[in-house]
Amino acid sequence: MRSSENALEVDQLTRVFDVSSPWLNRMIERKPKRYLRAVQDVTFTVQKGRCLALVGESGCGKSTVARLVTGLYDPTEGAIVFAPARKGLRIGRPMEAQMIFQDPHASLNPRWRVGDIVAEPIREFGLRDTAEEVDVRVADLLKIVGLSPDDSRRYPHEFSGGQRQRISIARALASEPEFLVCDEPTSALDVSVQAQILNLMRSLQDELGLTYLFISHNLAVVRHMADRIAVMYLGRIVEEADTEALFGDPQHPYTQLLLQTIPDVAAPNRDRELMGGEPPSPLDPPKGCAFHPRCPLAADICSREAPPSRDRHGGGVVACHMAPST
Ligand SMILES: Nc1ncnc2c1ncn2[C@@H]1O[C@H](COP(=O)(O)OP(=O)(O)OP(=O)(O)O)[C@@H](O)[C@H]1O
Ligand SMILES: [Mg+2]
Repeated sequence: MRSSENALEVDQLTRVFDVSSPWLNRMIERKPKRYLRAVQDVTFTVQKGRCLALVGESGCGKSTVARLVTGLYDPTEGAIVFAPARKGLRIGRPMEAQMIFQDPHASLNPRWRVGDIVAEPIREFGLRDTAEEVDVRVADLLKIVGLSPDDSRRYPHEFSGGQRQRISIARALASEPEFLVCDEPTSALDVSVQAQILNLMRSLQDELGLTYLFISHNLAVVRHMADRIAVMYLGRIVEEADTEALFGDPQHPYTQLLLQTIPDVAAPNRDRELMGGEPPSPLDPPKGCAFHPRCPLAADICSREAPPSRDRHGGGVVACHMAPST
């Protein structure tokens, strides 16, 4: 750890997937192996008690970063370093970060009662000594997320989408994590319910001193939640800055387009038009800057040379040949 302030340091993270056809097909069709670079040279830090958001279009690598950070995937290259856990915590926990997923229906075992779903990490890590203490802790966790202790006897299907996400949050908190990775935690929910869950997550962050890596494609949500934002495009971070700096003075042309296209209920297709269609495939990324085919500012150099990440005017980093110099 370079700085004791950082909860997480991610350095030059790369993840490549082998997406080749099966061996026999390749032999018959004489096709080479194919590799997909889902995440490329991603570097960021998250300060303790803060929220860093990853934003970008579908397929840019957000969930892959989340899965790398929580240990669900191994990196192809690069390093992930968490700050040492707070003193007094019991050891033996397999992960330093807990994850909250988009679809609470899929992540909660439908055959288990809510009480057992929330109790499982407490039992597994031996965080309480007696069955009574486990029950008390489960009741506390359900109250913390705005449910009733009586809900522990019910099954996940008896709850609404928003309530199920509260159960997921209670379960994630059960193992007393300091770091939560939230992958589109509200994008499956109605707008009014989204706001309630986001507000719950913010107040939990304040009360428990949690650190968040928060993933969303919705910039309005991200602005509400994050202290700092990293914008991803085809596996790379193209701009990173404090939330107000990024919204007030976006310097990468991709960030500028994203900000113009904050989802509009009245014109759901407008963003696609403004953006110049779908992003290119990460299987066959454009040469030079991956964004140049869609970029309104693209010059010759952009199709030849990938722009390096450099200091951003006003703080942060930006990877664009055309961005203002510091
Ligand atoms: N296990 C895997 N095997 C092969 N390719 C994968 C795998 N996981 C992700 N990918 C590919 O990696 C790229 C990044 O995927 P990822 O799920 O990280 O994107 P995302 O930003 O989370 O997208 P979304 O907003 O749709 O959730 C995509 O091209 C995806 O098809
Ligand atoms: Mg995803």
